[in-house]
Amino acid sequence: MDETDRSDDEQRMDGLEVTACERCPELVDSRSQIVNGDGPNDADVLFVGEGPGATEDREGKPFVGRSGSVLDEQLRIVGLDRETVRITNCVRCRPPKNRDPTKTELANCRGYLETEIDRLDPEVIVTLGKVPSEHLLERSVAVTKEAGTVEDVRLGGTPRRVLICLHPAATLYDRSQLETFEATLETAAELAGVDRNGSSGGGQSRLDGF
Ligand code: URA
Repeated sequence: MDETDRSDDEQRMDGLEVTACERCPELVDSRSQIVNGDGPNDADVLFVGEGPGATEDREGKPFVGRSGSVLDEQLRIVGLDRETVRITNCVRCRPPKNRDPTKTELANCRGYLETEIDRLDPEVIVTLGKVPSEHLLERSVAVTKEAGTVEDVRLGGTPRRVLICLHPAATLYDRSQLETFEATLETAAELAGVDRNGSSGGGQSRLDGF
């Protein structure tokens, strides 16, 4: 993304939110509304999913359907309450029939995500599933094998810490994945300096040597 496109994206955003966008004709047709990120604008942990589903499209918030219930419950277990983290998606409009977002749609929405990340400046970005992991790490990712792995990357020129995580829906299809999911959220809590009781205490030093 070049500098002109990026500054256009920044200007279209009100804080961390996109208020109007018509870049993806199919998504404009299929959405009921733009689903922006949810959570405090100074959160230490940012979760990034793929894109809104039917419930999210209806309610205007990310991860409020069945996957959201899994995420909320597991967050509670590791001491990271949903109210303390920010949750967003790679694309902000629901793809028709829950298909994956196309490369063009991901690219059209990328500047908004990068601006949200820059303005939030989180300690760690947790990618929920294959699409956001590959989108942010710009390589192919075997999420089941790599879940729990931390990778330092540059996003929009700034060093960022990315933690690969399963999509919460994966635990609905295969309950044995819950353990991996919870362990990854525990790593996120550690990186943000939060213990299981929800108190914060410093966290790991950020991107040392990167
Ligand atoms: N799955 C996602 O990737 N994002 C949501 O917001 C909901 C389900």
